[in-house]
Amino acid sequence: MKGIILAAGNGTRLYPVSHPISKILLPVYDKPMIYYPLSTLMLAGIRDIMIITNEKDQENFIRTLGDGSRFGIRISYAIQHVQRGIADAFIIAEDFIAGDRSVLILGDNIFHGEGMKTLLESAAKNESGATVFLYEVHDPERFGVAEVGSNGNVISLEEKPKEPRSNYAVTGLYFYDGSVCGFVKDLEPSDRGELEITDLNKTYLAEGSLKACVMGKGYKWMDAGTFDSLNNAQNTIRDIQNEEDKKVACLEETALEQGFISPSELKKQIKKEKSEYYEYIRKRVNELSR
Ligand code: G1P
Repeated sequence: MKGIILAAGNGTRLYPVSHPISKILLPVYDKPMIYYPLSTLMLAGIRDIMIITNEKDQENFIRTLGDGSRFGIRISYAIQHVQRGIADAFIIAEDFIAGDRSVLILGDNIFHGEGMKTLLESAAKNESGATVFLYEVHDPERFGVAEVGSNGNVISLEEKPKEPRSNYAVTGLYFYDGSVCGFVKDLEPSDRGELEITDLNKTYLAEGSLKACVMGKGYKWMDAGTFDSLNNAQNTIRDIQNEEDKKVACLEETALEQGFISPSELKKQIKKEKSEYYEYIRKRVNELSR
């Protein structure tokens, strides 16, 4: 299964802070934003990951994450030259996906919750169709909105509806079977000239194969696309980490827990690092290798 992180936007809603650097590399408390979606993919057991960026930011992403080997994964990079929408990711990544199943996550989407690994693994088990992750919100009109039938399938889907039929927002995390790159080619650009992810999901809906994974009260979902939501994400991550005495989206820790790297490799890697982030990892490696 392949993973894709879409991190290509210009982040104009966060200007001027996202002027010098991509929004997806801005700090969410103690780590760059991209750590969060990347850790979600790693938690799903995915080790082959493509990061799609815009042209000017690509080298910053490469400097931040490299080829992924230090997390026991393989990261490749691609550029979205023109902002043609979220579903365009499947045109850019077609060769990388090579007919395999895939997971797309938006670079500014942050997921957290104790059962996250189990939820992701159960979505990854579906051999056919697509799965969207839903989260109850107060302002569904800002998002894609889904209605769920009694069998757990999606029965209606609308992008930013004026009169939402439910309070379930479609989050920026999507699981697809091997048909996705073919389906994308049949999409027409929307009024704003983009290939819409909701239109792609509607193709699966029309086939009766769009499943819903509803994230309950024990989970947190945040998108960090505005000043308020970014600030809220930063404070929420700090609060969770203080309460749980465990970091969220610490990639080295995730890699260790997933068995992607060994404690001795990790110890060697961070030998010279001095920040509080790495002090935490040193402590965790010692605990886990006891
Ligand atoms: C996009 C999708 C929307 C989804 C949201 C999640 O919206 O189009 O369906 O609910 O991401 O973050 P955008 O943030 O591009 O407006």
